[in-house]
Amino acid sequence: MEYVKLGRTGLDVSRICLGCMTYGLPDRGTHEWTLDEEASRPLIRQALEAGINFFDTANVYSDGTSEEIVGKALRDFARRDEFVLATKVHGRMRPGPNGGGLSRKAILSEIDHSLGRLGTDYVDLYQIHRYDHDTPIEETMEALHDVVKAGKARYIGASSMYAWEFSKAQYTAERNGWTKFVSMQNHYNLLYREEEREMLPLCADQGVGVLPWSPLARGRLTRDWGTVTERSSTDNFGNRLYQDGDRAIVEAVTRIADDRGVPRAQVALSWLLHQNTVTAPIIGASKQNHIEDAVAAVELALSDKELEELEQPYGPHPISGH
Ligand SMILES: NC(=O)c1ccc[n+]([C@@H]2O[C@H](COP(=O)([O-])OP(=O)(O)OC[C@H]3O[C@@H](n4cnc5c(N)ncnc54)[C@H](OP(=O)(O)O)[C@@H]3O)[C@@H](O)[C@H]2O)c1
Repeated sequence: MEYVKLGRTGLDVSRICLGCMTYGLPDRGTHEWTLDEEASRPLIRQALEAGINFFDTANVYSDGTSEEIVGKALRDFARRDEFVLATKVHGRMRPGPNGGGLSRKAILSEIDHSLGRLGTDYVDLYQIHRYDHDTPIEETMEALHDVVKAGKARYIGASSMYAWEFSKAQYTAERNGWTKFVSMQNHYNLLYREEEREMLPLCADQGVGVLPWSPLARGRLTRDWGTVTERSSTDNFGNRLYQDGDRAIVEAVTRIADDRGVPRAQVALSWLLHQNTVTAPIIGASKQNHIEDAVAAVELALSDKELEELEQPYGPHPISGH
């Protein structure tokens, strides 16, 4: 496994981050396709053994049970100093007033709830899951700064939003001497490259680490177009993100993978790893070979011609996933 610095921080992260949205109780929250604790633990262990030190979850994933399962597995299989743990805040955790969002009240409560479920004193990276248009950004950034100063998070990061919103958050923090975001977790893969217009150049210019989510387009880049899996049949959010014209890109991935005799997932992930803005894709793994392919992708070098063949069929997409 290779390790790189997360943006301009001194923090070493593996080039593959294990996305933990896959792990959680299927009857809690909105993801019916998740793996329960017994099925999740071997995959978390496998990731650690493969040298993956970076794990991403969120308070909302499976209604907090992802944090519980992942926190316990990491405590059982590794030492706290050895892994980099990221979680998120913003999504609704209960109905009614103050049940979600990025107010001072929500952030200061949610960090404590997350730490309780994870069974740790601190997270390495505390991320805002989305922008909160109903809370002044000053309130959010000061509350996040206080979380860091209280020792509950080592760094802060952000996730999908417009580049102007991210920029506004960063200059608000800078103007007030508060902690700035060190990472952007955004929707970026061969089927969705709108981030190349504004967000990725901004992150490169500002030294912000980039952690693409759904790097395999939730599995679409790994199989024939239209194939239905257990997950895809109930993945309501994922089923809104892509369009029929994307089929040609999947066919290009297939040609290159067949020529090289490697699984398609390796080619699609390798393309992302070749983008110099990308720090570490956040992969979803529900089977052993998903982790094996992700790890192998780090070593797979694609030629300029192959990179061009993968990129050529892309057409603009409506902004999605914010
Ligand atoms: N910040 C955000 O808003 C946000 C949004 C989404 C996700 N995330 C993060 O990103 C992580 C990854 O998201 P994701 O699960 O959508 O990522 P993904 O890697 O694009 O999709 C994972 C799915 O791809 C298929 N797959 C993976 N490896 C494969 C392989 N080697 N061969 C064949 N199929 C393979 C599986 O689909 P099947 O199960 O259908 O076979 C798997 O469930 C999440 O866990 C979460 O941490 C964040």
